[in-house]
Order: sequence, then structure tokens, then C-alpha cells
Amino acid sequence: MSDSTTPPASTPVTVSKIGYVGFETLDVDRMVDYYTKVLDFVLVERTNGEAFLTTGFDHHAVVIQQGQTKARSFVGYEVWGDLADAQRRLRDAGYAVERRSDLAPSIPAVLVLEEPGTGVPIHLYDAQASSGVEGYTPLRPTKLGHVAAFTPDLKPSQDFYQDLLGFKWSDTIGDFFVFLRCNADHHAANFMASKTREGMHHIAYEMRDLNHLQTMLDHLAKNNYRLEWGPGRHGAGHNIFTYHQDPDGNDIELFTQIDMIHDESKGYFEPRPWHEDFPQYPKTWEVDLIAVNSWGPINPDKLVH
Ligand SMILES: [Fe+2]
Repeated sequence: MSDSTTPPASTPVTVSKIGYVGFETLDVDRMVDYYTKVLDFVLVERTNGEAFLTTGFDHHAVVIQQGQTKARSFVGYEVWGDLADAQRRLRDAGYAVERRSDLAPSIPAVLVLEEPGTGVPIHLYDAQASSGVEGYTPLRPTKLGHVAAFTPDLKPSQDFYQDLLGFKWSDTIGDFFVFLRCNADHHAANFMASKTREGMHHIAYEMRDLNHLQTMLDHLAKNNYRLEWGPGRHGAGHNIFTYHQDPDGNDIELFTQIDMIHDESKGYFEPRPWHEDFPQYPKTWEVDLIAVNSWGPINPDKLVH
């Protein structure tokens, strides 16, 4: 039975948003410094070897752990509806699920399942405690937008996210880069097929608009962080992007103006004058400037797979 706040359960789980990403570093203090002083996140809680950082209402969007610089230790997704129902439906679908209550100070119950191909633990939860952070700052990103990762094969990843977690297909570039959405935003998860690379491709944070992005870029420059690519406009997703590296060398994207689907029954992205197609439906893109950076140039390193 569904009501206005619960979508029909056509898949065992319906993810409503990306909540957080966790990754390891050799130097937690250095990464906390970068996140708080450069990206203007708020440090909400620090426990044994773990730092929880947020951009706003939720307790955390980033978890930094002491470790061996293993990128993308886990990803957390918030789900529609009751977590016990989700657990039952996942088991009915034949998936091993572990229920944990000790993974984050702000989340009493988390379902953990393994992402196919990568083995990365995926956390599912129904709500986080509030961070207590209020107010406006000129710099801080609005939210964690997406996490892009390498995977050996696209299909198992795509099947897992679409058939089990309720994601929808947004775009594919060539036969190696897929974009998946769990709400109006063009993608919350994207995967690049690679037999030689693994881990995180990049983490992306959303900026309000171009002025917000520019303010942050000036702030990055003042702190000696230089762009490695952009500003440009992606074709798939049409977000204006910039990329720089955090102190560990993880690629960090700051973006704005990402495509959105507000009416799933229509199936196309809200029309924008910079689109190539009118209307713009999810599609498989040729690998060229239009798909990757319509403002030019292509960054060959970003296309390695
Ligand atoms: Fe991205």
C-alpha cells in the first residue's frame, strides 16, 4: 500500500538520496583541515579515527577514516519507507543483508549489503540525526551530489542499482560510463568500467549557482588549490564542472546546473537551452567533446578506463 509520501515498491528498495561517502586517509587531521578550511564543511563529530563532516541538515555527508588511503570505503543511501520492510524485501529477493547499529553515531540502524563487482559496502538507512548546523555561509557546497567509481563491468552494477535499489538509468557514454539517478538529479551514482583501475573516480559536491562556484574557486586559489580540469560543461548531465584534487589526490568535482527530471512519467530532463536534444531523454552518447565537455577541451586522463 502506498500513500503520497511512499512510492510504489516496484523494487525491493527505493533509494531517495545519496547520504554520505566514507573513505580512508593516512592523515585524518590534514583531510579535516581541507574539508573545514577549504571546502567549508562543518566537523560535527570526531571519534576514534573517524571524522564526520556535513554541509547542512544531516549529521554527515562525509566520513573520513584513519587507514591506508583506500578510496570509497562505503556509500550511504537514504531510503523511502520503513527499514524493516526494506530488509524483508531484500531477503525475499535473495540478498544477504546485515543490520548494524554501530556504524554511525547519528544512525540507529543501517542495512549493509555488498556492491557487486567492487565489494564496497552499501549502507541503507531511513534517516540521520540532525547535524545542528544552521545558517548561511557564502562558501559551503549545498550537498554531496554524487560519487563516481570504477567497476570491472557496468552491467552487474547497473542491475544492482536499478533492479534492487530503485535507481533509474540517466545516460551512458560509449560503453563504459553509466549515470544513475535516485531522485530528480541526473545522477547520484556513476560507474566507469575498468579492468585496470579501482576505487573512487571522483566525489562531487553541488554549488548553488555559477556565482557560488566562482566564489569557491577564488577561495581554492587563495589556499593554493588549482583546477586540474574545467570550468566546462558535461554533455551527459549538462552540469557545469570543475575538478581539483584534495590533499590525498582524490578528484573533487564542484558542479552546478545538473540536469533534473521532475516528472518521471514524461521521462525527459527539464528542457534547457544548452541541451543537444529537445526534449533531452536519457541516451547513449558518442565519446566526443559534446558528451564530455561541450566547452572543450576533453581531458584524456578523465576518460581512461
Ligand atoms: Fe561528476
